[in-house]
Amino acid sequence: MSKEELFNLPKTFISGLGELKIEKFIGKGKSGLSLLASVEEIKVVLKLMHNEVSPFYSFTDNKVKLEKEAYSILSGTNIKIPKLLEANEVKNYLIKEYVDGIVASEFIAKNMLNDKIIEQLFVISEEMLSINYNIDYFPDNFVMKENSIFYIDYELNKYDPKWNLENWGIYYWANDEGMKNFIKTRNAAFINSDPGRGIPIKEPLAAKVKTWIDSYSKNDC
Ligand SMILES: Nc1ncnc2c1ncn2[C@@H]1O[C@H](COP(=O)(O)OP(=O)(O)O)[C@@H](O)[C@H]1O
Ligand SMILES: [Mg+2]
Repeated sequence: MSKEELFNLPKTFISGLGELKIEKFIGKGKSGLSLLASVEEIKVVLKLMHNEVSPFYSFTDNKVKLEKEAYSILSGTNIKIPKLLEANEVKNYLIKEYVDGIVASEFIAKNMLNDKIIEQLFVISEEMLSINYNIDYFPDNFVMKENSIFYIDYELNKYDPKWNLENWGIYYWANDEGMKNFIKTRNAAFINSDPGRGIPIKEPLAAKVKTWIDSYSKNDC
């Protein structure tokens, strides 16, 4: 069964931008189902929120409202993000520009990472720290396009060193073998030491991560 059938996707979707033509399923994360769609030949992403219970996160507020607020904060930074085109809190969806590139997790799995990209990632995290926030550094949330990193999820959390780039996210970027298996299977045991708590495998990656931190991090966390 195709993923389209699996999720029983509609062919069209009536939005504030007009009628969207649904092209395909592109991702299901912790907060929603993301679909590639088009309106008047423009490609967009339609994110339909769901209310899945997760052991790692609890959303006490409307997710569309949270992402809208996060978008407005991120828009004031130098971080490249897709433009938010519509946010509908009542119908629980948002529409954003499609970033036509390669998702970072795939990029990592294909050993396509280079130091210029890692450097950009640390510039992003430095700017986030300066305004006291963490973004979700997991590589599914970034798309590489023309050698630039776009943060395509709008998730934002108050800064906590436990979930910052140096102590948490960077280990997923360093784990190309694990990411290869994770992409194939979606089994988090390939990238997490404690899949129940979202804690990455660190020990075999420590030397690589240290080199990156020594070269690019200004955070003495
Ligand atoms: N604007 C976009 N451009 C390209 N791909 C996107 C875009 N938005 C989402 N995606 C794809 O959809 C997936 C899920 O989107 P995301 O917003 O991270 O959802 P969640 O909050 O559920 O994690 C991403 O991992 C990415 O593959
Ligand atoms: Mg995401």
